[in-house]
Amino acid sequence: MLLQIKPIIPSVDMRTPDWLTLDHVWLPYTQMKTTELPVPVVSAQGVRLKLADGRELIDGVASWWTACHGYAHPHILKCVAEQLEKMPHVMFGGLAHEPAYRLAARLAALLPGDLNHVFFSESGSVSVEVALKMAVQFWRNQGQRERRTKFVSFRNAYHGDTFATMAVCDPEEGMHKLFRGVLPEQFVLEIPDTAEKRAQLDRFLNENKNQIAAVIIEPLIQGAGGMKFHDPVVLRDLRILCDRHGLLLIFDEIFTAFGRTGTLFACERAAVVPDIICLSKALTGGTMPLAATVTTSKIFDAFLSDDSEAALMHGPTYMAYPLGCAAANASLDLFASEPRLAQAAAIETQLREELAPCRRAPGVADVRVRGAVGVVQMDRPVDATALRAHFVEKGVWIKPFGDILYLTPPLIIEPSDLSALTSAVHDVLHTR
Ligand SMILES: Cc1ncc(COP(=O)(O)O)c(C=O)c1O
Repeated sequence: MLLQIKPIIPSVDMRTPDWLTLDHVWLPYTQMKTTELPVPVVSAQGVRLKLADGRELIDGVASWWTACHGYAHPHILKCVAEQLEKMPHVMFGGLAHEPAYRLAARLAALLPGDLNHVFFSESGSVSVEVALKMAVQFWRNQGQRERRTKFVSFRNAYHGDTFATMAVCDPEEGMHKLFRGVLPEQFVLEIPDTAEKRAQLDRFLNENKNQIAAVIIEPLIQGAGGMKFHDPVVLRDLRILCDRHGLLLIFDEIFTAFGRTGTLFACERAAVVPDIICLSKALTGGTMPLAATVTTSKIFDAFLSDDSEAALMHGPTYMAYPLGCAAANASLDLFASEPRLAQAAAIETQLREELAPCRRAPGVADVRVRGAVGVVQMDRPVDATALRAHFVEKGVWIKPFGDILYLTPPLIIEPSDLSALTSAVHDVLHTR
């Protein structure tokens, strides 16, 4: 049974703009037969979304965790506008442009260890596809042709919506369970967060290591799979186990990177360097689609050969899109010049304080906070559509899913706006 809330009577004029119909657009993750119209937004500034009817919502989601500097940050707008004037796009095969080469060097300098080799693509899912492809070919290039084609991932994992990435998502709980039997079967195991599970994983890897190309995990927080947290020690243990059994370790930091968990990259908390890391979402400060798969020299060097077949045969049309790279460079400027990580720390403190009383609300199973991520988990799935309407009425944009209400605001959010978000969550918990 869905967690219900009392219906609310909209107090504001809900005029629908004439362009907003569902005649031609197919919405994400949506049953088109029963869906309500999405909320029309005409502009966004800072942490506020301006709606077609003139209302403003304080954004608690940061547009699927991308808008770390808020919307329309003038520095990003300026850099993108300058790049647009010069050259919106050129192909990356055979031609080079400064924004991409500078961005690659900056990412290499910021990432820990020797994560130095950057392969650009245009979405998170594709960057994970590239990581998986690199891992398989890493072994093939070393003569292990038929073996090492499998991946180990974890319960509640979410790594994307394309076929290879769906296969490393949680096949039971995840949104892609419909495709069981079509997707290549991978090893989806328990996160090793106890000594017993760690020992089990150790045995499993020992028995199956000859089939496995890599282990992949979202470090510290599994996002779309339910905002589940694990401790840095899990990542350290995974590094030890992968080294012991000679396996590659991939960190999918598409959600966690760029301050969301409190450090620039989540892997820093554990002082672990993966072999491959995937970045996207907040890479451009939430302004352009861009992703990067970054590897250590160990991986990169395995593709160096006199044999042309050892090369990585991948190259999306919009690879290293100059506008995206300009936005990403501008976003990195802001991480250097504005106190984003201190802001993330302040958000963490405030979320802890203000969400803690939710523990006592009826139907709440858990409240947890890490970095700029606050989660209230209910004891059953929520009625996301009704809750969304309620939140909009309260002047906030919060998008529950499954059994959770969560807050991942832009890192620039002011304390009073964050309080408006946490109050809206309190309010909804008591409006039943
Ligand atoms: C951890 C993680 N990996 C991969 C993806 C897929 O990224 P995209 O939606 O850009 O394909 C997401 C998206 O939410 C994600 O959170």
